[in-house]
Amino acid sequence: MAGVAWWKTAVIYQVYPRSFMDANGDGIGDLDGITAKIDYLVDTLGVDAIWVSPFNKSPMADFGYDVSDYTDVDPIFGDLDAFDRLVARCRESGLRLIVDWVPNHSSSEHPWFGESRSSRDNAKRDWYTWADPAPDGGPPNNWIAVFGGPAWQYDELTGQYYLHSFLASQPDLNWRNEGLKAAMLDTLRFWLDRGVDGFRMDVVHFAMKDPELRDNPVFDAPETLARSLGEYDKLVHLYDRGHPDIHPMLREVRAVLDQAEAGSGSAKYSVGEIHLLDWDEWASYYGASNDELHMPYNFAFVSGPWTAEWARNNVEELEAALPEGAWPNYVLSNHDEHRLVSRLGWDRSALAILMLLTLRGTPTLYYGDEIGMLQADIPPERQQDPWGRRVAELGRDGERTPMQWDASPEAGFTQPGVEPWLPIVDPDRLHNVAAQLGVAGSRLEFHRRLLALRKLSPALQLGDYQTIPDVPEHVFAYRRTFDDEVLSVFLNMGEGPVELDVSGTILLGTDPARVGAIESLRLQGLEGVIVR
Ligand code: GLC
Ligand code: CA
Repeated sequence: MAGVAWWKTAVIYQVYPRSFMDANGDGIGDLDGITAKIDYLVDTLGVDAIWVSPFNKSPMADFGYDVSDYTDVDPIFGDLDAFDRLVARCRESGLRLIVDWVPNHSSSEHPWFGESRSSRDNAKRDWYTWADPAPDGGPPNNWIAVFGGPAWQYDELTGQYYLHSFLASQPDLNWRNEGLKAAMLDTLRFWLDRGVDGFRMDVVHFAMKDPELRDNPVFDAPETLARSLGEYDKLVHLYDRGHPDIHPMLREVRAVLDQAEAGSGSAKYSVGEIHLLDWDEWASYYGASNDELHMPYNFAFVSGPWTAEWARNNVEELEAALPEGAWPNYVLSNHDEHRLVSRLGWDRSALAILMLLTLRGTPTLYYGDEIGMLQADIPPERQQDPWGRRVAELGRDGERTPMQWDASPEAGFTQPGVEPWLPIVDPDRLHNVAAQLGVAGSRLEFHRRLLALRKLSPALQLGDYQTIPDVPEHVFAYRRTFDDEVLSVFLNMGEGPVELDVSGTILLGTDPARVGAIESLRLQGLEGVIVR
């Protein structure tokens, strides 16, 4: 749509590069693999942009979220030439390319950290956060790492602790240091110059913490809740992330993107991975004048009861919290959350996808959800995720298994006879692209129809959102309006049938047979439709 930034109307698709497509037959996905599947993404599926999880040089302690060189490609994934080929292919096909940027921490194998740890007076000492031991020799404060244990690691060589909000091999960068800041902003420029359209910014609100490193308060939770809380959630994260100085920092980040946008004449985009339950605090990351992130990810739908009331409240609360001119977004799953179909069941997950692709805002799909991939139960000896190795139930391998392209033993992900880095889990061999393409009623065809409809509908892409009131208890219904195009979406989140006084034309529904003119609307349990 002319005059509208591409990221407002785009559907984004997240590619986990280790698991999308293996071009060189080592059992691990790579950049050339993604390049080989651009036709699938653009022509078959019909998405507009991809976000590729990290492919930077990394010792892979957290599968690329531990970067040892921000401006290079890890040999597992290819090299900068392979990256350039990917950019060229995206350009050719009009697909936008978003890359992951990990600003809060590097790998402990990053040369910057090597220098920083080498002596107390090294020029890069303050590129990370170092602090003296507490009087008893223990960690400087009570902060806990997201992955468990103290957020501090003692370093013999210089007798101080360094901060790590995640693994000890992921030391936190110190954004209060001008040299570090300049170097990190340069890494953005590097990828912008190479042709990326935007960045997904990993846990970006963690980048600023209390400069005095004060203890976090202990969460005063009711007894029953307290017992179920993990170590990390037992504290209120007042001081170890989201310090108000994050806002000026994000304005500097945004300025780099704006400059590239002005220079290239093509809109640049940033989305921050910001898990916050408080809507106003969450919305503050757009910036007071829309001058920080283009959007913080809205994770309200990655967990919850999936009742009509809950869904409606989520949407209304988000719409109400948005600052003037801010653009919403929705996401159902990603590489850190259990697979959608396994979380919600088959029918409810279809309803969720119908909702995702018809609400006002930029949707992000997770690779494999379009073919209904299931959460894999990874045997302990094959667990790869550092989190899962520490606490088995927290492991994220199950949602990161290879993309299933066909029904072969390797699912078409790698060459025949090669063992993929994580097992393929497709018990009935039906959750794959080949088995679903062109098959009416398949999950893939459902996505294709929905994406095609969305692409042709200004109301779905840009229209206003309005809740439709006075509908049966288990129905979530809303209207999307743009000029004279008015579409209504009815989602029956209950298990039983409902009757609605609605007439018009069903354009598309979770049941592929349900299209055409209606005088009244009877929805089966867990059925949803779009009506014009
Ligand atoms: C984010 C990523 C996650 C990673 C963590 C540490 O939450 O999504 O995969 O482990 O940051 O970088
Ligand atoms: Ca490979």
